[in-house]
Amino acid sequence: MAKNRKWNNDGLQQIQPLQEKQHRAERRMVVLPTTGISMIILLLLALFPQQVFGDASFNTNRGGVKTGRTAAALEVSSLSDLEMISLWGPSTTDRFNPYTGSLLAPLLIPRVSGTANNTRVQEFILDYFAKLNTTSLTGGTEEAEAEAEAEAEAEAAAATTTTTNSKLKSKKLKHQNRDQLFRRALGTPGIGWHVELDRFTDKTPFGEKTFTNLIFTKNPKAENRLVFAAHFDSKYFPPPLDQKPKNQWNGGDDTLPFIAATDSAVPCAILLDLAASLDRALDHPSRNDKDTTLQLIFFDGEEAFQDWTATDSLYGSRHLAELWAMRSVPRSRTATGRNGGSTSNNLEGIELFVLLDLLGAEGPNVPSFFGATHWVHQHTMLIEQRLWEAKLHGGQALARRKAGIQEREDDDEADDMERLDEDEPPLKGFLTAAPAWGGVDDDHRPFLQRGVPVFHVIPLPFPHVWHKLEDNADAISPEVAEGWANIFRAFAVDYLQLLKPRGQHRRDEL
Ligand SMILES: *[C@@H]1O[C@H](CO)[C@@H](O)[C@H](O)[C@H]1NC(C)=O
Ligand SMILES: *[C@@H]1O[C@H](CO)[C@@H](O)[C@H](O)[C@H]1NC(C)=O
Repeated sequence: MAKNRKWNNDGLQQIQPLQEKQHRAERRMVVLPTTGISMIILLLLALFPQQVFGDASFNTNRGGVKTGRTAAALEVSSLSDLEMISLWGPSTTDRFNPYTGSLLAPLLIPRVSGTANNTRVQEFILDYFAKLNTTSLTGGTEEAEAEAEAEAEAEAAAATTTTTNSKLKSKKLKHQNRDQLFRRALGTPGIGWHVELDRFTDKTPFGEKTFTNLIFTKNPKAENRLVFAAHFDSKYFPPPLDQKPKNQWNGGDDTLPFIAATDSAVPCAILLDLAASLDRALDHPSRNDKDTTLQLIFFDGEEAFQDWTATDSLYGSRHLAELWAMRSVPRSRTATGRNGGSTSNNLEGIELFVLLDLLGAEGPNVPSFFGATHWVHQHTMLIEQRLWEAKLHGGQALARRKAGIQEREDDDEADDMERLDEDEPPLKGFLTAAPAWGGVDDDHRPFLQRGVPVFHVIPLPFPHVWHKLEDNADAISPEVAEGWANIFRAFAVDYLQLLKPRGQHRRDEL
């Protein structure tokens, strides 16, 4: 197919050798830090060789116990399913607009751990889930749903948007019947979102500070979880010395105005998007307590206040992993196979821990970090390819906007894409088949060290705005952010088998 010719997962190598050279050089720069400043890249290779290179087969065995799922057991959604999933509300690209987007704009303030702004962001996230709760617990109505859509449409109309409202509407109409098979019917109550607050104090170079991890779980009774995580704090940047002497820095509200858009406001917005878009599918009456549930973790205190060290960094994830390792939970079966007993700790029910970081900028290049989850990386690349075929890939949407192609109500989309195909260089996927030769130290480490399988979604090289004040609204492509959101929606749908028709055996019985 002509459109597929332009899909190129590792296009950089073959097509733009020059750029690939630069790319390698940058990566080296990133991976071998010369100073201790902030996010140090550890060569996890040295620490966890088996996780990095170990068992790259799809079906991972640890000690003879089946721990991973096989890639073959996961089906990739069809093009039509992908379109349906991407249209589950919220569905306007504008939700990722850094200035007006309902999911993103409220996060884009300096939010250093322990400051009032950090608390404001916590409140925004908690309110968001409380609202979802209200809709879910009361069942929601056609009117409420229409109202929410109208609100989003008004928002979209206020800003420039590539997809017109009526086009969205007619596309939605197309999927309405199938849609009803997989989602809780409006008016029927769902189970809401369970919330856990992990609030604690820890010593920092600027004294004791309070941190709060926010954890939302669809079905807290489920024994196993698919986890998506990101950190919501922003890094502290002290004021210049000529404005304030060092001994007066407070590690808090005297920070420079750093709003950390890719790091990690966009990943947090993607988590919010997952919760709302999958809410009704997760509430489907055919799902029961045995089905693996969705859990979303917003970490506080990922960033170091000064230099990235074992004690000055990862405050939130270190605390939560330790807390959950000590929490014993009843267990009637051992689907993850990481322990054979009748009780386990609260980490063992995590089938897969997906950590998103530094996303939202153009041209990400995410390699595969761990052999144990290489199949997840590969499955996600398949999803990308399918999204591309369905013309729903974020890179396509971005290219379309850059080429000045506006989707009009009455035009034939295909025409636009033909023009794009002719004018644009090949699209490169967000994920690359290349394995990373090192790891990036991040919130997954405290979990990885305790045996949790990790899919780390972080681009190498990092976005060029990384830890600069320019990591702001200008660094964000709403199309790329939405592209990632569609990828993870589809991944969660595939993984949790949300489109399995009622009555069919679920994965656990395979
Ligand atoms: C949502 O509702 C559940 C069940 O009533 C409750 O336990 C939970 O705290 C609520 N979550 C939020 C975020 O308000
Ligand atoms: C808190 O956020 C507001 C924007 O809402 C910003 O103007 C203010 O400077 C922030 N405070 C700190 C201490 O960063």
